Amino acid sequence: MPTYMLPKHIAFSQSLASYVKYNLSDSTAQALTLEQLCRLSTDNFDAAQIAGISNTLLQYSPVQGDVLLRQEIVDFHKNLNCHSRIIDAESAVTFCGAQEALSAIYHTVLSAGDEIIVLTPSYPSLVNMAELMGVTVREIALCAENNWQVNIEDFNQLVNEKTRLIVLNSPHNPTGSTIDTNLANQILQLAQQYHCYLLSDDVSQASNYHSLALAHRYLDYPKSIVVGVMSKSLGLAGVRIGWAITTNNTLRHSLIAIKAVNSICCSKIDEKLACLALKNSKDILALNNQVILDNITLFSALIARHPEKLSWQAPQAGILALVEVRNITSITSWSQKLAKQSGILALPSELFGLKGNYFRLGLGQRSFAKTLVIFERFLLEN
Ligand SMILES: Cc1ncc(COP(=O)(O)O)c(C=O)c1O
Repeated sequence: MPTYMLPKHIAFSQSLASYVKYNLSDSTAQALTLEQLCRLSTDNFDAAQIAGISNTLLQYSPVQGDVLLRQEIVDFHKNLNCHSRIIDAESAVTFCGAQEALSAIYHTVLSAGDEIIVLTPSYPSLVNMAELMGVTVREIALCAENNWQVNIEDFNQLVNEKTRLIVLNSPHNPTGSTIDTNLANQILQLAQQYHCYLLSDDVSQASNYHSLALAHRYLDYPKSIVVGVMSKSLGLAGVRIGWAITTNNTLRHSLIAIKAVNSICCSKIDEKLACLALKNSKDILALNNQVILDNITLFSALIARHPEKLSWQAPQAGILALVEVRNITSITSWSQKLAKQSGILALPSELFGLKGNYFRLGLGQRSFAKTLVIFERFLLEN
């Protein structure tokens, strides 16, 4: 029987929970209140009622997910990407977060002895789930010298007949690196050549504040699966809805069967709220992406004031970046001191599989400016 352990970043956060008041590593964009979300579609006083939430009958939702929500999900996806295949509501399955979707995909596609290719450092589950299943993880190690970017050669070197799945995540957690349309096409060709599955974890794709060419056409290939969620670019982690989209019927039926075993269905209210948020996603993204841009400016100014202590490469998209802390011996001790002395959580990059004195910076929160004041005081005192 496998031994289940808390993911390292969650265990680390929990070990410091009694000290922490501010989170400098949050991977989500700014959240809205329920009332703010409902008011996006109406100014009426009883916003929740008008938005059609309060008269929801609290029964089970369909296992595959509410059909109106699935339509919103594929529309959201199609707005960001380009395909020639038909993708409709039938192509999507909702899950309780992207995490449940990723777990269902791994358990559908992978068996012990398979190989997968993953970018590292990484969102811990993308590696841990595979290792627990006895799957061999081939890592493409991103490095600061290359601005954390990958190229097709990195994939060419690892892919082989045993490769069952290529896992992508762009914009990338925790480095902020991106895969542009050109590289996406090359990776797609490679996956087709080796007949392997292709998983694109797109949870922050809509945080594209510099309008980079991030559109892909992975779903033209029936062995591709795209994952999205409410928590990252849209900032609505409290609406526990994620999704997987694939044009492969067999694969999709397996995902639905696994969901039926794990959670049966998502919360009816969450599905309604997700639908409402996706209908208003342009407005939400405009607000959230502006917060990220403002925070990048603030952090660049802080770095310019303390070049001997900090360095980074500002992200071109997404909510996250890695920051190097200079002239310290251990990032873990430094982070623990930061939490204990200043109440700030900054997650060391080794929790995501990268050695060196880096921490993950989250740029999505409106409280960022306030947190930076306290952070700068800590830098000056230490
Ligand atoms: C790259 C990536 N994928 C998936 C997830 C899971 O998202 P959620 O926690 O909303 O299910 C996360 C969460 O941090 C993530 O960073």
